[in-house]
Amino acid sequence: MAQLKGDERARYVARMFGHISERYDRLNSIMSGGRHHAWRRMATNMAVMEATGPALDVATGTGDFALELTNRPEVSGVIGLDFAPEMLPLARDKTRERQMADRAGYAVADAHNLPLPDDHFICATVGFGVRNFVDLPKALGEMVRVLRPGGNLVILEIVRLEGLGVVGKLFPLYFQYVTPWIGAIFGGNREAYTYLPESVQGFLSATELSAMLRQAGLQDVEHRKLALGTVAIHVGIKAGATSHG
Ligand SMILES: C[S@@+](CC[C@H](N)C(=O)[O-])C[C@H]1O[C@@H](n2cnc3c(N)ncnc32)[C@H](O)[C@@H]1O
Repeated sequence: MAQLKGDERARYVARMFGHISERYDRLNSIMSGGRHHAWRRMATNMAVMEATGPALDVATGTGDFALELTNRPEVSGVIGLDFAPEMLPLARDKTRERQMADRAGYAVADAHNLPLPDDHFICATVGFGVRNFVDLPKALGEMVRVLRPGGNLVILEIVRLEGLGVVGKLFPLYFQYVTPWIGAIFGGNREAYTYLPESVQGFLSATELSAMLRQAGLQDVEHRKLALGTVAIHVGIKAGATSHG
């Protein structure tokens, strides 16, 4: 996988998430020690401020972030997009079960080419998605484009550790040797969870991701680290809001 680039890598990633779609939620709970819902709730609090209007969740997967957004009264409706079509029926089922079907809709789309108008959303979120994007600056540019001036982009992601404390030494070992076996035992797919450590090792640190958000034109960029610095929530604001919002 490490040697795949561009479209070939994107096809591999879409196929891989398609294969694990049915087991994704269970594996997410195991891998995050049950914390992933709390992290999305925190990230949602950072995404939704006073403005009211539509929200966007990119790389929505089984829709957990989109569903968090539907709980907020400021959000008039949510669009969840993902390029792995197998994920979306799971997101739709969950949304129906929670009686939120009139508040969230899902469609197949690639983060690098959003089929959406400019300046539209009060916030855009991505949970555990950006690490997989083949051209992150381009995908960030797309999300910034569709945000309203003053809108927030929020990214929840596993990041490369900064510094080499005990966690810095142990986490890569856990990831490299333990997660593929958890994937094999609970998810029936060792390959997908071999991809996970590879994708984190090749990804940015929290500080580097902040710098990339600034380069994408976002202002007031901040990040908050979670889970001993292995996960981070980043937020940045699209410039250009007027005094009337
Ligand atoms: C680890 S899952 C995260 C799902 C969900 N956001 C969550 O918080 O659990 C990553 C998702 O990103 C999607 N994805 C990866 N690259 C994408 C891209 N370029 N465009 C759209 N979706 C993408 C995958 O299909 C997968 O569903």
